Amino acid sequence: MKTQVAIIGAGPSGLLLGQLLHKQGISNIILERKSSGYVLGRIRAGVLEHTTVQGLEKAGAAERMHREGLVHEGVELVFDREKYRVDFTEAVGKSVVVYGQTEVTRDLMDARAATGGLTVYEAEDVALHGIDTDAPYVTYAKDGQTHRIDCDFIAGCDGFHGVSRQSIPADVLKTYERVYPFGWLGLLSDTPPVSHELIYVKHPDGFALCSQRSETRSRYYLQVPLTDKVEDWPDERFWAELKNRLYPEAAGRLVTGPSLEKSIAPLRSFVSEPMRYHKLFLAGDAAHIVPPTGAKGLNLAAGDVQCLADALADYYHNRSTAGIDGYSARCLKRVWAAERFSWYMTKLLHTFPDSDDFEQKMQEAEFNQLVLTENGAKTLAENYVGLPY
Ligand code: APR
Ligand code: PHB
Repeated sequence: MKTQVAIIGAGPSGLLLGQLLHKQGISNIILERKSSGYVLGRIRAGVLEHTTVQGLEKAGAAERMHREGLVHEGVELVFDREKYRVDFTEAVGKSVVVYGQTEVTRDLMDARAATGGLTVYEAEDVALHGIDTDAPYVTYAKDGQTHRIDCDFIAGCDGFHGVSRQSIPADVLKTYERVYPFGWLGLLSDTPPVSHELIYVKHPDGFALCSQRSETRSRYYLQVPLTDKVEDWPDERFWAELKNRLYPEAAGRLVTGPSLEKSIAPLRSFVSEPMRYHKLFLAGDAAHIVPPTGAKGLNLAAGDVQCLADALADYYHNRSTAGIDGYSARCLKRVWAAERFSWYMTKLLHTFPDSDDFEQKMQEAEFNQLVLTENGAKTLAENYVGLPY
């Protein structure tokens, strides 16, 4: 087989890139090691920045998001029971759309199916070859046979544990990492959200987040020690601890119910540079990871692939290499801004097991900077609704 761009990974990055390239008349094939059902089974954050909404519109996959997505014009922060609302619309004239990543993925899968684009699911042993030559190609195994795809470029959209980043020589790649000393226990339930907006809580007993998927489906998180297991948290214990960390009015409104899904995820900041090596381009989680406190993971992925699709269109339509040559530097500028914001929100709102009295005072002072200075709220709002890519 031959195609112009071989895409590794059918998560949000790979699927959105496939659609954007299709819209530009650039042929592409997606290789995904899991089944489509497995990919859709992942529960991930669903706060869409305006640039992500634009990306889905360009991809022809925004209709249901516009119909069912929830427009949020602000967010509530609670710091040791002191409440403060950041009004995005007042501060920066923008809003966000709350719409689960599972739904984004489903819409992108449907849009790709409508174009007839080839996605090979359950493609095993994907390997990249000749990425530093003029004739790169990808091999994979399926149904007991080895297949080869010759291409012009390879897009590594295969996430943190993928094969693409590992295909860049170790002496070329520079990585940066911070692993946080706690995890997030997430619970999904068919119960009405406790509030019409998201509530981020810093409580002496730990962080909590109240989010939602619709007006009848809620998503909640609790900071837990890394040593905890899901089986340590029966639903009753989860609901009791969430009420403990919420302020009384919200705790009184909380509607509890059986969990549809419950899992513990670690928190990590990670960046690998560069995001391009000859004919290989990394995008999304393959290149970077953010702690979910800033809701940036999906949005960074969407920004990367919009930048990459523009660059490849410039190459194929105008025979210009300016876009592909500038891809890594352009993406990393936005990636590091999101890494900073996600790290800031994580430091501000979590209880760090080894923090001393001075560090706790710094957290309080940081929160006061936010609520007492005009620029504090504006800066948070600008970063939360999304910086331009
Ligand atoms: N071969 C083929 N596919 C692979 C391989 C491989 N060797 N390794 C991983 N994959 C697939 C995974 O199965 C997954 O479906 O690549 C896809 C990567 O998807 P994500 O991990 O979701 O990453 P990305 O598409 O960049 O989306 C980033 O997803 O994880 C969240 O928080 C993250 O919201 C962010 C978004
Ligand atoms: C979610 O809805 O899953 C979510 C929302 C905001 C975050 C993280 C997760 O910061």
